[in-house]
Amino acid sequence: MAGLVVPTRDSFGRLQDGTEISRFTFQNKNKVTVRIINYGGIITDILVPDKNGEIKDINLGFDNIKGYEARHPYFGAICGRVANRIAGGKFTLDGKEYQLPVNNGQNHLHGGVKGFDKVVWEARVDDDTLVLRYVSPDGEEQYPGELTTEVRYRLTNDNELSIDYTATTTKATPINLTNHSYFNLAGQGYPNLDDHVIWIDAFTYTPLDENNIPTGTLAPVSGTPFDLRNPTRLGDRLKSVRNGKGYDTNFCVGGRTGNLTRVASLAHTPSGRKIDVFTTEPGLQCYTGCNMAAGVFGKGGVEYRKLASVCLETQHYANSVNQPNFPSTILRPGQSYRHTTVYKFGLTS
Ligand code: GLA
Repeated sequence: MAGLVVPTRDSFGRLQDGTEISRFTFQNKNKVTVRIINYGGIITDILVPDKNGEIKDINLGFDNIKGYEARHPYFGAICGRVANRIAGGKFTLDGKEYQLPVNNGQNHLHGGVKGFDKVVWEARVDDDTLVLRYVSPDGEEQYPGELTTEVRYRLTNDNELSIDYTATTTKATPINLTNHSYFNLAGQGYPNLDDHVIWIDAFTYTPLDENNIPTGTLAPVSGTPFDLRNPTRLGDRLKSVRNGKGYDTNFCVGGRTGNLTRVASLAHTPSGRKIDVFTTEPGLQCYTGCNMAAGVFGKGGVEYRKLASVCLETQHYANSVNQPNFPSTILRPGQSYRHTTVYKFGLTS
């Protein structure tokens, strides 16, 4: 299988209940290495060279399964059944009211108390693809329908990490899947984002109310700190975003749902490392680690600070299930949910 990057498998230790977790390592011919575990579908490591060939891990996470099994801010994980917030955990679907668990103030966040980030996925390797499969029972976290989800991870020799999501359901349900990796292109644990330059191809964003729920309007970014249509140095910009809190913002990158489109890029000037983000999704939640608690220690014992990492979460808009004017997140029996996102690692020219 010349040209294909075939992942190898080893053990990542055991959960408290004894379940053994597997780790899959992709390494391509350019020495880009990506490691993924079948607990939460978590990307544990992304090692990429800089312009001088110096390799660093640019992805926040933990050294062992204990770190991931404990409460943490979704490092590297697949979030679902519905990533992002549902107001009050409530929605009405086909005339029936649902109340999901609330785990973020008054809201339901990232699938609830035990979301897809905290489950064990069946794993198999199919040529160059790691296929993760999870069957979410009818009623899990109070969601309707048995939902069968597959997530396919691949790494190419063009440094593209692609994530393909598919799902089918036995009853109508909301669904919104994403990956919640945190990047710092200076190397994980670097204490700030100052020399990062971001570009997001969005004319509008979804402003939030006091409960962090979209108001329902798509507001123009023009004249606001959310205008990232020209590459913008985060060190200059973050102070003016939400009174210095930074981005935790959904950008409307779509109107193009279904077509894989380059929607964002993140570059680090001193090292030259760069990520281009391509997606079929209409939204990109850019989160600059604003809520990182004090005392989160990650790989190698480094402390992860606030405003020192970026998530570029491709997804539908928060609370879409309660906003008829947002692109729909409802999946019905007989339909197939599809979402593709590609993170392409490269160098600035
Ligand atoms: C998302 C949310 C943030 C935060 C992080 C995880 O990005 O929008 O508010 O919850 O996840 O901490």
